[in-house]
Amino acid sequence: MEVITAKSAGFCFGVRRAVDMARQKAKEHTPVYTYGPIIHNENVVADLEEQGVFSMEAEPSSFASGDKDIIIRSHGVTKEVAEKMASFGNRVTDATCPFVKKIHRIVAEHSAEGEQIVIFGTASHPEVVGIKGWSSTPCIVVADEKEAEMFVADTQKTLCIVAQTTFPYKKFQDMVEIIKEKGYNISAFNTICNATEERQREAAEIASKVDVMLVIGGRNSSNSAKLFQICKEICPNTIFLQTAQDMDLSGFLSIDRIGITAGASTPNYIIKEVQTKCQK
Ligand code: F3S
Repeated sequence: MEVITAKSAGFCFGVRRAVDMARQKAKEHTPVYTYGPIIHNENVVADLEEQGVFSMEAEPSSFASGDKDIIIRSHGVTKEVAEKMASFGNRVTDATCPFVKKIHRIVAEHSAEGEQIVIFGTASHPEVVGIKGWSSTPCIVVADEKEAEMFVADTQKTLCIVAQTTFPYKKFQDMVEIIKEKGYNISAFNTICNATEERQREAAEIASKVDVMLVIGGRNSSNSAKLFQICKEICPNTIFLQTAQDMDLSGFLSIDRIGITAGASTPNYIIKEVQTKCQK
């Protein structure tokens, strides 16, 4: 049986980098704390705890006592939180994804030049909360096309538009158009990271070539559910599993080719276990 595993399965670059940085820190010194859970995956969190990496509440009171080793997760934090964290005498490791860091820089520079910062995204998402905190003036967050239709801002100011990294590209383009048509002077930065799109594109491609497609992901992971839905439409024999233990291929008479993909919070070792079980 041929096993095809998606290259983009599992952690994206930014999350892998943050988890590796946390592990590395824990080798030097424990305990290490992450400012909010580094990832929404029970297995990974439990595994990290065994290595001395614990999650603290993502709020300033958590680090006020000082003298802690703290990792800023890939979503990033506001400028104020980053500065306070260090000023309280904590040792801070910034694992903000470089793609998010780039948005922080754009927002800081353009707000300093007097432009109105507009963020396309979900206002309550930690990444957006962090981005807002790098602007020196108040930002406007726009969630969807409907809000873009109702958008109003100071017409004297140039708008600097950025997007949450996971924002859908088509929606970004449509919303830029809606706001442009209102006559504003715009500089729009496509700050979308293509990790999610690439994972979905590759999963669809593999699903079209295999007899059975396996999608590994957490019970409550929405991006894994989306992957499952995409694959199922192309390959009816698509199975959702959380770990290698859930795998049961006994219902299939013969399988020549099997495909594997995994949601963004699935660690590599689970993907490997499933791969090995398939090969056996
Ligand atoms: Fe991941 Fe960074 Fe993109 S955290 S989804 S690689 S912006």
